[in-house]
Amino acid sequence: MPPRLGQVEPSGGFDIRVATPDDATAICTVQAQTWLATYPSEELGITREGLRQHLEGEHGERIADRIAWTRMRIEAHATEPDGGCDFVAVLGGEIVGFTAPFVEPGGRRRVGALYVLPRVQGSGLGHGLLERNLAWHGEDQDVYLMVAAYNERAKGFYVRHGFGFTGQHGEDKLAIDGVVMPELEMVHAGCVIR
Ligand SMILES: CC(C)(COP(=O)(O)OP(=O)(O)OC[C@H]1O[C@@H](n2cnc3c(N)ncnc32)[C@H](O)[C@@H]1OP(=O)(O)O)[C@@H](O)C(=O)NCCC(=O)NCCS
Repeated sequence: MPPRLGQVEPSGGFDIRVATPDDATAICTVQAQTWLATYPSEELGITREGLRQHLEGEHGERIADRIAWTRMRIEAHATEPDGGCDFVAVLGGEIVGFTAPFVEPGGRRRVGALYVLPRVQGSGLGHGLLERNLAWHGEDQDVYLMVAAYNERAKGFYVRHGFGFTGQHGEDKLAIDGVVMPELEMVHAGCVIR
């Protein structure tokens, strides 16, 4: 069980800032640790080892590529700021969460990624990162995301932040252990002030 409110030190003692290319390694570490804690499913046959191999490769051969790709993404966002942005949550000097809003080539706005290290979940970081993500898009914009269908915690979190299900299923077809991870689409409808 991740610590809940009151069991973790900081409640608001974190800082959220725009990522720099040198944050790529820490971002990938947060992503990997959070994936391994979140996505195994005995029922579906998605194992921690299958997830690890997807992220790292059997012998860690994918790690450098993931870090390089993340670094390139951050650099690309710096030169084309309308395309996306990476934000990191920093606590005690350590990157403990990140979010990466972006705009698809067709113009659809997406939350992109939202990950908080398990040991600091439940202390408001996810809330702060999501607010920053939606603010980057602008409050009048519809913002979409895909959530693993069995990720009950995240689904509840998003519903409590104003997201609703569109009825669409994921198209990414990400397969772990030969099992396609089921995904559901959600949207946060922009409010247009007239
Ligand atoms: C989903 C996720 C991003 C939420 O981040 P988090 O830091 O745990 O979220 P918060 O602490 O802001 O909010 C979680 C709960 O803590 C409570 N909370 C505790 N302290 C709080 C504070 N200081 N301020 C606001 N809420 C607080 C909230 O009530 C909230 O309740 P809810 O989730 O039932 O609505 C995080 O759990 C995570 O990374 N999960 C694994 C990866 C994942 O599922 N990512 C989403 C992929 S689509």
